[in-house]
Amino acid sequence: MFTVEVDNAPDNVPSTTVLAGLRTEQISQLFPRVILMNEANRTSGSPLLDPVFIDRWSPRSFADTPVSDEQLAALFEAARWSPSWMNNQPWLFLYETDGPDRADMEAIISEFNRSWASAAPVIGLVVSRPGVEGFMARTAEFDTGAATMAFTHQATKLGLAVHLMGGIELDLAYEKTGLDRETANILCGFALGHQGDGTNLSEKHQAQEKPSPRMSAAAFAFKGLKAADRPSEG
Ligand SMILES: Cc1cc2nc3c(=O)[nH]c(=O)nc-3n(C[C@H](O)[C@H](O)[C@H](O)COP(=O)(O)O)c2cc1C
Repeated sequence: MFTVEVDNAPDNVPSTTVLAGLRTEQISQLFPRVILMNEANRTSGSPLLDPVFIDRWSPRSFADTPVSDEQLAALFEAARWSPSWMNNQPWLFLYETDGPDRADMEAIISEFNRSWASAAPVIGLVVSRPGVEGFMARTAEFDTGAATMAFTHQATKLGLAVHLMGGIELDLAYEKTGLDRETANILCGFALGHQGDGTNLSEKHQAQEKPSPRMSAAAFAFKGLKAADRPSEG
């Protein structure tokens, strides 16, 4: 039995519907934009998919095992080889482990994230530099996102976990980094480390400590420029 998520249910599906007797794949085919709120849905829609994409998720619990310099170097190396407009490479990663900037780095993370992220052995910021992209500044964030995912997937490959955090104190981040809003766009924070056992989390966060489902690829991938079943707002 699956409950259809209200927000993206198609018009012909009542806001709360129980689809009994259908398999996950059948429901996905019938209603590709519906996110099945059932963890069994966290399976690949393609047998060719590399497992790293399903294995990656964003835990909040981190063990106190340090991340080695060698591991960190591999993650930044992965980011380094990302594609970017005109090969401009507009990304910037600022990070701290247990060094002198640790307290400031933690202060930059908003309280609702800091409560769990402060246990991570590495905390950092992801920044894009639209200035280096010149007239194509609109792609600097896109390129930086690509580099961030390369970083994140390499972490998964090494048995580490990354949790990205949009919840940061932006004014404080600019103040403490000395970056200029005109030339640098501080996008988000990240917590990096070995996944913990969850015992250091609040009850609420313990309940959320699991991989999340996804809508089907059929909801966002369409052949042609004006596919009839494309979302109207897209
Ligand atoms: C740009 C960005 C900002 C995010 N900000 C936060 C955040 O402030 N706090 C948080 O707990 N998770 C944050 N997340 C994590 C998302 O909630 C998470 O990636 C999403 O729910 C999908 O779950 P998964 O990464 O475990 O697959 C952020 C993710 C991204 C990409």
